[in-house]
Order: sequence, then C-alpha cells, then structure tokens
Amino acid sequence: MSGIFGNLFGSRKNDLLDFSVLRTDMHAHLLPGIDDGAGNIDESKQLIAGLQELGFSRFITTPHCMPGVFDNTIARIQEKLTELKSGYTDTTQPDVQAAAEYYIDTEFPDRIRNGEKLLTFGEHYVLVEVNMTQPELKLQESLFELRLAGYKPVLAHAERYPYMFKKNALKEYEQLRDADILLQANLRSFTGDYGEVQKRIVKALAEAGLISFLGTDIHRTAQLPMLAQAMMDKHVQQLLAGRQLLNNTL
Ligand SMILES: [Fe+2]
Repeated sequence: MSGIFGNLFGSRKNDLLDFSVLRTDMHAHLLPGIDDGAGNIDESKQLIAGLQELGFSRFITTPHCMPGVFDNTIARIQEKLTELKSGYTDTTQPDVQAAAEYYIDTEFPDRIRNGEKLLTFGEHYVLVEVNMTQPELKLQESLFELRLAGYKPVLAHAERYPYMFKKNALKEYEQLRDADILLQANLRSFTGDYGEVQKRIVKALAEAGLISFLGTDIHRTAQLPMLAQAMMDKHVQQLLAGRQLLNNTL
C-alpha cells in the first residue's frame, strides 16, 4: 500500500498532514459482500489498511440500505461485521463499528413512524442519502420524522445533490442546517472525483462553514490515491485545522 502513496508524494509524505486529526471515518463501505463496496474480506482488509495508512484509526462502516437494491437489515449488517472481525486476530483487530447509509424514498417517513429501528453512530446520528438527480418530495418529512424519533440526521455527501445548489446559492443547505440537519462531505469531492459541479459545491459548503463531518465513502482500493490527493487540498487542510468537524468526537 505504501507504494501507492509513495508514488504520489515521494519523500514529502512525512511533511504532510494526514487524517489522524479526524480519527474516525464515519462513511465507508467496508463490510464484505453486502453492498457495492468491499466484495470479500480480503478487500475489506485492504481498504482498512489503506485508510489506516492515511491516518484514520476508527471506522464506522455504513453499508447502503436501499429498498429493492440493498435490502440490508440490522441483523445482516451485524453478521457481516462479525465476519469481518473474524478476518483478524485479537491483536490486529481494527476499531470498526457498523452503522448504515439509509436511502430516503417516498416510503421512508412511514417506516420511521411505524417504529423501524435504525443503526446509529455517535450520539444517535443516522446517515441518510437521497436521490442525486432529482429532489425527493418526502425529504423534509423524513428528516422531521427522524428528529421526532430521537435521531440526529446527517445528510451523506451533501455536495452530490446539484439540484440543491440553485443559482449557485446555498440557501437549501442553510435551511437544512437551521433544521439541525448535519452535513457530511466526501473527501474525494474536493479533488473533482465526482465532477466539477460537486467540487464547486463542496468548496462553497466548506467556505460557508456548513460541513460537520468528512467521510471517505470508500468503496474500492482504487479510490485510496484520490483520498491521499484530497489531503493536499486547501479547503480540506483548512477544515482539518479548524474546529467545526465532529469526526473526532465519534
Ligand atoms: Fe456511501
């Protein structure tokens, strides 16, 4: 793994910040064979080793829970966490916890009203995502129901919803913040890995102080070098040096 980063940084590697100040990656697809992330335990271990090399020491893995696509239950996620842990000895065991990334669709508010239990991390945080190409009419209602049920919603990769960035303005994001919805940004967005619009949005969110969590959202090892590159981004460096991020409270 050091080869990948060695090639990028050469001898400068030790002079640069790493992500250890964050301590916790709270958005990653590390469990084997449960979603579109790691396919097997070997891949899970490679992802974790790569993230450790970048400075992360605690992992909250967040498999997709998307009805009809990834029908993951709490029991299945916990089973997969046990499977992952079985790939390590007692002394090499990484600090991995399991939460989930819940897809908000039209039925979501009813599921919460009906008392469906969700996997949380930290202080009752629940990671949620929503359609990336068009607004979900039930988003506000879903977020309201989550809060009513005692959860603290965190919007995953907030910069990946270009329709929320109307006329290059952050009004919709500010409204979410005012409703106590926390925003998570993907580190790879700062490099343009998802596109130029997403890059512009994430930088605007960073400048406006609207980002509460940074995550890798890592799915495969090929994404590790992009994370190393994100570390050198000016906005990322400013976030790492600032006090607004909550990763290290987890
Ligand atoms: Fe994700």
